[in-house]
Amino acid sequence: HDFSRRKFPILHCFRSLIVKETAELQNFQTIPDDLLISTYPKSGTTWMSEILDMIYQDGKLEKCRRAPIYARVPFLEFKCPGVPSGLESLEETPAPRLLKTHLPLSLLPPSLLDQKIKVIYIARNPKDVAVSYYNFYSMAKGLFPDPGTWESFLENFMDGKVSYGSWFQHVKEWWELTHTHPVLYLFYEDMKEDPKREIKKILEFLGHSLPEETVDLIVYHTSFKKMKENPMANYTTLSSHHMDHSVSPFMRKGVAGDWKNTFTVAQNERFDVQYAEKMAGCDLIFRWQ
Ligand code: PPS
Repeated sequence: HDFSRRKFPILHCFRSLIVKETAELQNFQTIPDDLLISTYPKSGTTWMSEILDMIYQDGKLEKCRRAPIYARVPFLEFKCPGVPSGLESLEETPAPRLLKTHLPLSLLPPSLLDQKIKVIYIARNPKDVAVSYYNFYSMAKGLFPDPGTWESFLENFMDGKVSYGSWFQHVKEWWELTHTHPVLYLFYEDMKEDPKREIKKILEFLGHSLPEETVDLIVYHTSFKKMKENPMANYTTLSSHHMDHSVSPFMRKGVAGDWKNTFTVAQNERFDVQYAEKMAGCDLIFRWQ
């Protein structure tokens, strides 16, 4: 691939992102027990980050209030003037570390794969992702250019001409990785349906056990309602220059199926055609309403 800004859309929107241009990121070295949370944007990254930090802190709420979520779970490829980069934050983070990325597999620093670092991947209905992403572009003005109309944004999303590129390619590449790498591949919709069941899957994957009441506590404190009112989880600690919650809160709706309030019938039909084409031959099964 040629990932230059001119030819490839991954970077064109996310001004503060570093990817290929810096050898720094590609040379990133993992340490034992790192755990990577990987998602296409707006798929449940923050939710999973909070769940995992609560697991790592044995459900001790005060410990999870020690810092905002983006400091507790550094964002691997993030670099923004005046703010510690993801790599800098990681240097300050004691093991065992949680890392977050939205990178397509082809841009992941090789060390994470070579060292067989455990990965938790979350996929979400792309229609809900598109709606959430459009609202995020609008509110995170310091990070993205104006997204234009919903209609044009949706076209760009389907064509992979948004930050981080094609949703279709992302979910497929990471799904393929499950055949050769320790990846727990989860779905936002399953987490909404039964968060306790999904947290138990995570515990099993980590080889970790917690008392039943601690799991219940984690379910409770990582609910959308509790995270929305938690300043250490809801991104309100960032300056309004970066995220303007009066345009659209980061913790916006937190539901499955909200796309129905935004897509027209024609947009939905067009999306379904694109989906069938782009996902043809892939054995990844989604259960959506
Ligand atoms: S980001 O910017 O890519 O890291 O965003 P990400 O955290 O992946 O996704 C944001 C969407 O996840 C919703 N969210 C939640 N849903 C349910 N439960 C909990 N606890 C939760 N926390 C965050 C958030 O509201 C965004 O979705 P939308 O549809 O915009 O509400």
